Amino acid sequence: MASYVAAIDQGTTSTRCMIFDHSGRVVTVDQMEHRQIFPKAGWVEHDPNEIWQNTRQVCAGALAKADLASSDIAACGITNQRETTVVWEKATGKPVYNAIVWQDTRTDEIVNSLAGEGGQNRYQRKTGLPLATYFSGPKVKWILDNVDGARERAEKGDLLFGNMDTWVLWNSTGGPDGGLHITDPTNASRTLLMDLERLEWDAGICAEIGVPTAMLPEIRSSSEVYGKVRERGVFAGIPIAGILGDQQAATFGQACLSPGEAKNTYGTGNFVLLNTGTERVISENGLLTTVGYKIGSNDTVYCLEGSIAVTGSLVQWLRDNLGIIATAPEIEQLARSVDDNGGAYFVPAFSGLFAPHWRSDARGAIVGLTRYVNRGHLARAVLEATAFQTREVIEAMNADSGVPLKSLKVDGGMVVNELLMQFQADILGVPVIRPVVAETTALGAAYAAGLAVGFWASEEDIRSNWAKDKQWDPQMPTELREKQYHQWQKAVTKTFDWVE
Ligand code: G3P
Repeated sequence: MASYVAAIDQGTTSTRCMIFDHSGRVVTVDQMEHRQIFPKAGWVEHDPNEIWQNTRQVCAGALAKADLASSDIAACGITNQRETTVVWEKATGKPVYNAIVWQDTRTDEIVNSLAGEGGQNRYQRKTGLPLATYFSGPKVKWILDNVDGARERAEKGDLLFGNMDTWVLWNSTGGPDGGLHITDPTNASRTLLMDLERLEWDAGICAEIGVPTAMLPEIRSSSEVYGKVRERGVFAGIPIAGILGDQQAATFGQACLSPGEAKNTYGTGNFVLLNTGTERVISENGLLTTVGYKIGSNDTVYCLEGSIAVTGSLVQWLRDNLGIIATAPEIEQLARSVDDNGGAYFVPAFSGLFAPHWRSDARGAIVGLTRYVNRGHLARAVLEATAFQTREVIEAMNADSGVPLKSLKVDGGMVVNELLMQFQADILGVPVIRPVVAETTALGAAYAAGLAVGFWASEEDIRSNWAKDKQWDPQMPTELREKQYHQWQKAVTKTFDWVE
């Protein structure tokens, strides 16, 4: 039997292919960044063709680096930036518009008018989500309303919708020549169009939002053999056997498999997911209810999610837009050049504010400035923003679940930043724990695919592969912690009502 499982991780800033062995160890990785397109303030797009070409290249690259052949790979899983929306022609595979990225706020008016008298939470009970620019449904409506003839063609079934999982799967399995038009419930649960209980598209909501059901992919489980990579391409013949949205994949890869277990991924944004088992907990504190995973015909596992739009991307902004640092890792050294934030707080409401506020009218602010504040203080305020935003969503989670979190498993790019990890433990007042394999997103997708083909026997294999690397315990005095958090909360209110 083939000795490895692969995962394609189509993320917000880059696409990666990773290959894992049976112990969950990373054997090889190849990665390519793609262009971030900002046509106007608040708009964020990706070129779907560029992403598909990059996907092919990183798959070939990963095999070549490890000197492996397709026949060495038992299965491939797909994980992806969620919500990002592509609409393309079924007959040619040509996108009718660029992908509209999850961070994009152009659907603000659509969302407000849908909220109308029913309010922002009118679909919450069915879909688990508030009406917000973040989700796919309104993005599809925008494309159909703004591209000539698109609505008519979508109604006839000539156009297809997909998130990045579906786009990659459809292209890998033949594209216009019989490509599979499939998604999984974790991705579908981010569209505002799926009934969370039945795991089916809700015809009533689709009609109200204005998305023809003819263009929607079939919803299958997160772990089953959907089909094989088309014969002539890279990865030829490998079964594609798992799909999980990236945050759900990280939850799975972190082995948060029992109710009450939670993880926080530090990527472009931060996403805290708490496993609530087979129960759909509807949040009263600004969190999302989302599908955690559905393994084959097993019961659906749900999560509560606190989504934070801007964390790692704020470090990139400091690098690219202000030039205060030359590379992202430099931020730690710069932040260490000072003892504290010097009174400065940075609320990065670049896409409005997501959980727990859901304010699309918010825009970023740096407050508390005096002549004393320097680059080091700003660097610190940038890192602290990630930790403070995390505390906001953990507080909402504690309030929803009634059981305070005792520790937090962390993963993602920023967890190498020791200053941030210590500050995170300090501000939460609970230990922060990093696993040996911090690449839990790709690993989670590999697990979903590997389970489907029997490469891993059960979820017990996932648990036994998980191992702790490092733990940070809270050290900050309670009084200081609460004072700083209070200042942060005041800073957040300064960002509201900015867009009129
Ligand atoms: O919901 C958006 C999320 O899936 C994006 O994750 O890691 O690509 O920033 P990431």
